[in-house]
Amino acid sequence: MKIAIFVSGRGSNLKAILDSRENKPQVEVKAVVSDKIDCPAFTVAKQFSILTYSVGNNYGCINNDELIKNLQSLDIELIVLAGYLKLIPNKLLSFYKGKIINIHPALLPSFGGKGMYGMNVHKAVFESSAKVSGVTIHFVDETYDTGKIIAQQCVDISNVVSPEEIAERVLKIEHTLLPFIVGKFAEGKIDYVGNRVVVN
Ligand code: GRF
Repeated sequence: MKIAIFVSGRGSNLKAILDSRENKPQVEVKAVVSDKIDCPAFTVAKQFSILTYSVGNNYGCINNDELIKNLQSLDIELIVLAGYLKLIPNKLLSFYKGKIINIHPALLPSFGGKGMYGMNVHKAVFESSAKVSGVTIHFVDETYDTGKIIAQQCVDISNVVSPEEIAERVLKIEHTLLPFIVGKFAEGKIDYVGNRVVVN
């Protein structure tokens, strides 16, 4: 299965997917896309000789129509948002309906929505005094963090002393859950039973 990974930050989840390729030879990362020109995650992409694209209005960027054309010419079958901070435009959503997923570093539907990314999420979880946090992988729709949930894994945070400690525990889970779920997509093992998404 040919996939594109969208990133805005350091790209540790991108690296986790690339490192798991031995286990999942059926997953081929064809492109890494960012809303930034010099996204740190591009360094990871380049180490693996993967095409990179910056989307936006700045010099050196492509626009959304060009992005769609490029993704189509690469036969992309799944788009994985791994720390991508921008909303996906409707046109791209409709081209890839049901084929865009996102990883969120908390247990949705709590601690999601606009502005809830990176350390903002872990700070909110810490301040709430919640005793568990975790990872959610979900389908992407028109709004932030509201699409149907594909997979979740929780982690005990009852004894943490800082948001950074939550981030560390959650990230460790992200790095195994995301490659696992991408592999399940490649195996055709993500399904619907009625209205619920199931991982077989
Ligand atoms: C991860 O915590 C992911 O869940 C969130 O942004 C972070 C990206 O980290 N959406 P990285 O760029 O993959 O290291």
